[in-house]
Amino acid sequence: MSEEIDRGRRQLLTVATTLTGAVGVAFAAAPFLASWQPSARAKALGAPVEIDISKLEPGAMLKIVWRGKPVFVVRRTPAMLQSLASVDALLSDPGSDKSRQPLYAKNEQRARKPEYFVVLGVCTHLGCAPQNRFSPGVSDDGVLKADWPGGFFCPCHGSKFDVSGRVFKGVPAPTNLEIPPYAFVDDQHILIGLDEARLG
Ligand code: FES
Repeated sequence: MSEEIDRGRRQLLTVATTLTGAVGVAFAAAPFLASWQPSARAKALGAPVEIDISKLEPGAMLKIVWRGKPVFVVRRTPAMLQSLASVDALLSDPGSDKSRQPLYAKNEQRARKPEYFVVLGVCTHLGCAPQNRFSPGVSDDGVLKADWPGGFFCPCHGSKFDVSGRVFKGVPAPTNLEIPPYAFVDDQHILIGLDEARLG
């Protein structure tokens, strides 16, 4: 098993010659406590970005920037994952059939590993940055309702998404939040912008 991981890591590092590392800082309540920017040259090249998730606590989220766009990584709790099964009837595209994601993320959790959710932080309506609202019961913005178990909220025009980035009915955003290509380098690192399929 460790040999497989070592081999996979070598492959990733060989292919990603312009790979740029990033260490995210986890946070739970504030939407954007920390972000990281690769160099201008790396951004221009669309370089993959490696994220260290070793300090990401359950229920917390970190943000990095990849190709000039925010990418959120959420470590979901069992309760957050449980909430996914109860909202299908309220969603516009529960099966993600009309939404953009790699094939390995076309499932209820929209993820390779259910615990870790990786998503572009770009609203599919007009491109604003959604905010995380994982505990709607403690929000004071007045827009959270009992029929929304929390997830992501776009402040521009009120679109709501669950903790898999699936959009609710009756809001302006037409599709679920987009999932970028990504791969686990090992248990503590995720590479954004590259997936195994592209390694050949
Ligand atoms: S940009 Fe998000 S709801 Fe309009």
